[in-house]
Amino acid sequence: MTEPLEQEILRAAALLRAGELVAFPTETVYGLGADARNPQAVAKIFAVKGRPADHPLIVHLRGAEQLAYWARDIPAEASLLAEKFWPGPLTLILKRTASVPDIVTGGQDTVGLRVPNHPVALALLAAFGDGIAAPSANKFGRISPTTAQHVREDLGDAVPLVLDGGPCAVGIESTILDLTTRRAVILRPGMITAFELGRVLGRNPLFADDPLAPEEVRRRRASGRLVAHYAPRTPLVLTPDDSLPIVLRNALARQERVAVLARHPAPADWPHIVWRVAPDDPAGFAHELYAHLRALDALGCRRIYVQKPIGPAWRAVLDRLERAAAGSGEQTP
Ligand code: TXA
Ligand code: MG
Repeated sequence: MTEPLEQEILRAAALLRAGELVAFPTETVYGLGADARNPQAVAKIFAVKGRPADHPLIVHLRGAEQLAYWARDIPAEASLLAEKFWPGPLTLILKRTASVPDIVTGGQDTVGLRVPNHPVALALLAAFGDGIAAPSANKFGRISPTTAQHVREDLGDAVPLVLDGGPCAVGIESTILDLTTRRAVILRPGMITAFELGRVLGRNPLFADDPLAPEEVRRRRASGRLVAHYAPRTPLVLTPDDSLPIVLRNALARQERVAVLARHPAPADWPHIVWRVAPDDPAGFAHELYAHLRALDALGCRRIYVQKPIGPAWRAVLDRLERAAAGSGEQTP
């Protein structure tokens, strides 16, 4: 870590202590952080993001040894998962202690906790010493930032300090696992998969949309998750491989300027289409996804077509793409 960055991290910790906001990199996306024990500081997050107050925040910790301050009735699974996946892109939902301010949890009896795997985030957490409440550092409903530049574009002067830790390695938000009911439930898929979690848990977690998921979890999820999320301003249409040629031919016939995010190069006979290629593997695609969507969104095209990925390994990526498509208000063909 370079000397100026170390100095900035100390300044960031001092700002947090003073009740100010700091944007910082994690391995998933950039976070907009505040002292999680200071309700006035946390309130600034909601104001800057334009986020509804009942939308709970994740508290970032420097290590699993801090769990007991924030969570109670911690099941053995939580410790096993923490040992295996922390620091890393996994958020655990646990019963909260009385120490957690209501504003962090949206008044719920549970709290989301994670230890991020990024040297700058970990250095900040160590320098600050306490929990940092942080959502993604974007305006509510927009695409999460994966570079410091994205944060500045979205939030500008509203944040006194943006720590620059380079592009985020993972690129999409953490897997959220609810451990407050008898069967573990994934509230938000991420790059740590159900299969990997299942190997530690002894059986696969359910997904929140599974009819077998406990009713209370499905209710809770509804409060925290809006379908229209992670959305570019340009309408995004998820397009299966085999219909991509015809969909594009139709768009060209209508003389529309459209863009494509695909996992293979453009065919030679489509010169007028803005075409971006992302890697054909889930981790590589996730890493680049939000930067591609931002770049394509800035072009002012009529539509962005995204080649629809298929298969369980693509679940987290597909979840973000479906939200982006729903948020842009056009139906997938
Ligand atoms: O990767 C990530 O998780 C990033 C980085 C910054 O850590 N953070 C992030 O935060 O994505 P945010 O606020 O954009 O999304 C947090 C999600 C929301 O959908 C929220 O509803 C859910 O976590 N959440 C937080 N606390 C919860 C709780 N107690 N119960 C259920 N859901 C919760
Ligand atoms: Mg977010």
